[in-house]
Amino acid sequence: MRIDNDQIYVEDVPVTAIAETYGTPTYVYEENTIRANFRRALKAFSRYYENFRFHYAIKANNNPAIAHILRQEGAGIDAASVNEILLAKKLGFAGDDIVFSGNFLSDDDIKAGLDSGAVFNLDDLSLLPRLLKFGQPDILSFRVNPGYGRSNVGDYVTNAGPGAKFGIHPDQVMDAYRAARDAGIKRFGAHMMPGSCLLDPGYFAFITELLLDIIGSAGKELEINFDFIDLGGGLGIPYLPDEQPLDVEATAAQVAEVFTRKVGEYGLKPPRMVMEPARYFVGDAGYLVGRVHSIKNSYTEIVGTDIGMNTIARPAMYGAYHHIYVNGRESEDRRPLGLTGQVCENTDYWVRDRELPRDIAEGDLVVVENAGAYGYCMSYQYNGRLRPAEVLVNGDRHHLIRRREEFEDMIRDTYVPDGLDK
Ligand code: LLP
Repeated sequence: MRIDNDQIYVEDVPVTAIAETYGTPTYVYEENTIRANFRRALKAFSRYYENFRFHYAIKANNNPAIAHILRQEGAGIDAASVNEILLAKKLGFAGDDIVFSGNFLSDDDIKAGLDSGAVFNLDDLSLLPRLLKFGQPDILSFRVNPGYGRSNVGDYVTNAGPGAKFGIHPDQVMDAYRAARDAGIKRFGAHMMPGSCLLDPGYFAFITELLLDIIGSAGKELEINFDFIDLGGGLGIPYLPDEQPLDVEATAAQVAEVFTRKVGEYGLKPPRMVMEPARYFVGDAGYLVGRVHSIKNSYTEIVGTDIGMNTIARPAMYGAYHHIYVNGRESEDRRPLGLTGQVCENTDYWVRDRELPRDIAEGDLVVVENAGAYGYCMSYQYNGRLRPAEVLVNGDRHHLIRRREEFEDMIRDTYVPDGLDK
């Protein structure tokens, strides 16, 4: 995104053109930013550890066009559900390109997962006998909860540590791999998810060491090796104006150093190192473009837009900060204002006391930054406000990659029993 003469451009497309062509609110993604993010991170990690692969956590943005970009760049997939596996396969990912890290799986999930050929990453030991009832996978991974987790979105997205619902307790890890080995499984993986939106390279190294000590001991004692060790996602992006970007080069160097040292210490055959970020690839490549409908002066002054908790849930859910730009006004003086969407909930009043351009007015376009990850995929239809459109930009070209929902989408697949409509 760039601002030229106060006009906002997504790559080389003015946001005014996006709004005129597709309406608002609309999610817009920069193809070249996604590719640059992926390449920067891949270059860093493969420099320090040759046998390395990224799996894209498709939950963060499941638009097929976006996933295709990451497939072209060489990513595999981290899938959280069978439907994400089906989507990935439809897009051309092979079964063994996909790690299936679902939790609390049903029997149907297990059967469909086995049919898909995806690599199971089991969240609990109790899943193993249930899995073996339906078939014996070639390779099996366990998700370890190393007892520590972190996030910079409050505690909300801390998906490891004692308070998290995910992963196997370190004390159960040996039993898990032993049971799998004794059941005849020959190839193994290991996994953790260290937390989300992390900006400290040292933290990745610290938690990698914890994981490797846990699975290294299991590997040594049980005389098994790991085809891959998946260090999860969590590579962060700055949301707040004063946050610095993650030093991905330092992260890669520190993680690879610990990884290599620990693999040697436990005498493991060097495994593939996998990481499965999402936010780092797509987060800062996406913007949400909306329009100011009216400005209200009641107890406070509130800018009313078509961007609310239904179109971008993160602020209402986590108190998350997203920077806002106003087209045509970025060089104006600022004053504190609130900004809200159109939903009948006060959590929809998602921006308070923010320094916004002084003369912001009806009809202005507002652009929400860092909306590429956990944006559209967490939007919903509450209050009959339907989901936005999605557009992909490359240079001065733009393409619709998901149409805006219409009334028919709201009532699609609902049924009224006979007699109720009389
Ligand atoms: N792998 C697993 C198993 C995950 O659960 C996640 C995200 C990722 C990878 C990708 O994490 P990332 O690199 O994007 O941090 N909705 C929240 C984030 C929830 C993260 C869920 N798991 C937000 O909007 O901040």
